[in-house]
Amino acid sequence: MEIPNRKGKIIGIKEEKPWVEKYRPNSFEEIVSQSVAINNLREFTLSNDMPHMIFTGPAGTGKTSTALIIAKSAIKKQNYYSNVLELNASDTVRMDFVRSVIKSFVNQSLAIDSDILKFIILDEADNIPSQVQQALRRIIEKSSSNVKFILLCNYINKIIDPIVSRCAVFRFVYLTKIEIEKRLKFILNKEKLQIPKTHENKLFSTLYFISGGDLRKAINALQMAVSLDLIEKLDLSEILKISGFLDDSTLERLIDAINSKDIKEVKKIFDTFENVDSRNFIKQILGHIDDFPIHVNNYNSFMAFVGDIDYRISQGADDKIQLVALISQLIGCIET
Ligand SMILES: Nc1ncnc2c1ncn2[C@@H]1O[C@H](COP(=O)(O)OP(=O)(O)OP(=O)(O)O)[C@@H](O)[C@H]1O
Ligand SMILES: [Mg+2]
Repeated sequence: MEIPNRKGKIIGIKEEKPWVEKYRPNSFEEIVSQSVAINNLREFTLSNDMPHMIFTGPAGTGKTSTALIIAKSAIKKQNYYSNVLELNASDTVRMDFVRSVIKSFVNQSLAIDSDILKFIILDEADNIPSQVQQALRRIIEKSSSNVKFILLCNYINKIIDPIVSRCAVFRFVYLTKIEIEKRLKFILNKEKLQIPKTHENKLFSTLYFISGGDLRKAINALQMAVSLDLIEKLDLSEILKISGFLDDSTLERLIDAINSKDIKEVKKIFDTFENVDSRNFIKQILGHIDDFPIHVNNYNSFMAFVGDIDYRISQGADDKIQLVALISQLIGCIET
């Protein structure tokens, strides 16, 4: 089976173009949610004095799409490649690269067509090393007024202050269930696919749960479910599994085993885990926290422990060891 890559794009299912790309919004009107950011942006793009910009917020909420809409609306198609420079963090790790590529792109604009806007879109700007950000800051300062930087990031606190203070910051937020459902229905409609009315509620609730507010994840999960024929018979367990979550029945068995402190059974269930993403697993356990009779005195320390485990996993610790530690701690916190 095809596995989504880091950005969640599906490769190869029925040779079909990934819906996330096929349905990337092409205008402000098509951007779902983000009304605060979009309303302000609209005003800026109409004005003659567009600032440098930072779009910050969680994955799959429309930052790259919005940056592309701005660039495309300001620049004619035939000039696009000479007037828009798209870089991502891995291109910018080397300072000499930043200097030479951005500088030559910026300077080139001084020589010719000096009133035409140029955009430099820096994706994953929060992964640019801070020394390189310092170099970038000087380049931004010195750039002429027709060159606009758009920095995209998930964590604005990783961007150095001197850059932040030179940019207008737009915050993107997770989409609500209603907004995700609306966009998924729009896509299904375009694809001429119908979801049986009886399945709608459960399907969209599961897709929203999988997405956690990230529309890219929701669209990918829907496309995989359609490609693998999981909608007609509404196989929610399989939909959860292919998205890296535990299916409901395994989760229920695990909760029972934890509550009866049956370590052997817990281990047996753990050994059946396939394709379960550790972060997703933690989210599922937290989603069911009320099903565990945790003693009130243990609640805070357990939650602090969950935070530690999450951090260790983010730093590359062995997932399985961490999840076993989490479950052991949980078992220890349960009232007997
Ligand atoms: N607000 C939105 N409105 C409409 N479609 C969206 C929105 N957010 C995400 N999408 C869909 O998800 C895909 C990915 O969105 P986009 O690349 O803009 O996310 P991003 O915020 O840049 O995420 P990342 O932080 O991972 O780079 C888009 O191609 C589009 O299909
Ligand atoms: Mg992006």
